Amino acid sequence: ESTEVAVIGAGPAGLSLANMLRRAGVSCVVLEARSRSHVERRQRAGILEHAGARVFEDWGLADALLAGAPPDAVVEFRVDGEPRYLDVPALADGRTGRIVPQQVLVGRLVATFLDGGGDLRFDVDDVSLHGLDGDRPTVAYRDSGGTVRELACDYVAGCDGHHGVSRAAVPERALTTYSYDHGIGWFTVLADVPPARHPLLAVSSHGFAAQFPRGPQASRFYLECAPDDALSAWDDDRIWEQLRLRLGESALPTGAITEKSVVEMRSFVVDPMRYGRLFLVGDAAHIITPMGGKGMNLAIADANVLARALRAALRDGDDSALAAYSETCLERVWNHQEFSRWMTEMLHESGDDTLAGPFRRRLARARLDRLFTSTPAARAFADLMTGG
Ligand code: APR
Repeated sequence: ESTEVAVIGAGPAGLSLANMLRRAGVSCVVLEARSRSHVERRQRAGILEHAGARVFEDWGLADALLAGAPPDAVVEFRVDGEPRYLDVPALADGRTGRIVPQQVLVGRLVATFLDGGGDLRFDVDDVSLHGLDGDRPTVAYRDSGGTVRELACDYVAGCDGHHGVSRAAVPERALTTYSYDHGIGWFTVLADVPPARHPLLAVSSHGFAAQFPRGPQASRFYLECAPDDALSAWDDDRIWEQLRLRLGESALPTGAITEKSVVEMRSFVVDPMRYGRLFLVGDAAHIITPMGGKGMNLAIADANVLARALRAALRDGDDSALAAYSETCLERVWNHQEFSRWMTEMLHESGDDTLAGPFRRRLARARLDRLFTSTPAARAFADLMTGG
């Protein structure tokens, strides 16, 4: 069997890439370790940058993927219970993101790809990559029926997340890795609670908390916690009590909690995002903290750069964009890593003295206040929020 591009993984990165490649007239086969229902139910990200929405528009995919997704407009910062608002589109010359729960986007990406005749194989096992530094790589795997198969291709797109096999297939000496532990944890809860009027980021002496929409009747809440906090330390009473304190909302509506986890606040980047004929895309190449909502957006941005570069290489015989793939993507990756770290420091350290001491607390407060006293500072923030 053979195809032009073997896509490993059907998360936001692999599915975006596969849909773009189809639009570009490039053949591909997607291999996914998990089942369709598992992939479609995974709830994580929820905001698509303006830049990401533009990417889907450019590929003619916006109608199929984004119909009915409301704009992401005003962001509320609640500081010791006092609301402050930033109207992001007004500050970003009308550019606005879209509120799209990841599982909705993923479900539509799967349906659009399959409806168009795309080849997507779920429940595969034992994926291994061979001949990456040669002219004709192959991908071996076991299909859902248990048969071992081999797929020959021109290029491999490693879209299999942080723990996938793609990055692991690269010799260690060929990659430089950067990782950073932010020293905090986020306890996160998905609950059947209607979202607040605007996405909400709250700073207080009780610690950072946030509430983001996940559809009309669900919210994702984040609560700063110790990085090694056990899930068992958070029973429902403590969750609602801490949310009421931190959001400064004594009448916060409660609802069924459908998921709980502790998110590691960790960053990771690999350079280059390429080895021979393997290209790493999305979480396979970099992870970012959830602060700023950039993980899914980086995956989509990488996919766009790669799809264009593969089209140029395979259809026009022009390899220059492929040669520049890693450098092109890493510029955005580091820019977003900086934004996420900047925001993490600002919103955690301005709350209380225990994280970084009283001097840095005042610095963080100054940084936060500046967003509401300086239009250029607010515009710079909005520019980064919308993804440029
Ligand atoms: N073989 C095939 N598929 C694999 C393998 C493997 N060995 N290992 C992992 N996968 C699959 C996973 O099951 C998953 O469906 O690869 C997919 C990787 O998806 P994600 O982890 O979601 O990564 P990515 O597509 O890069 O999405 C990145 O989206 O959820 C947001 O913010 C989140 O940053 C994240 C972003």
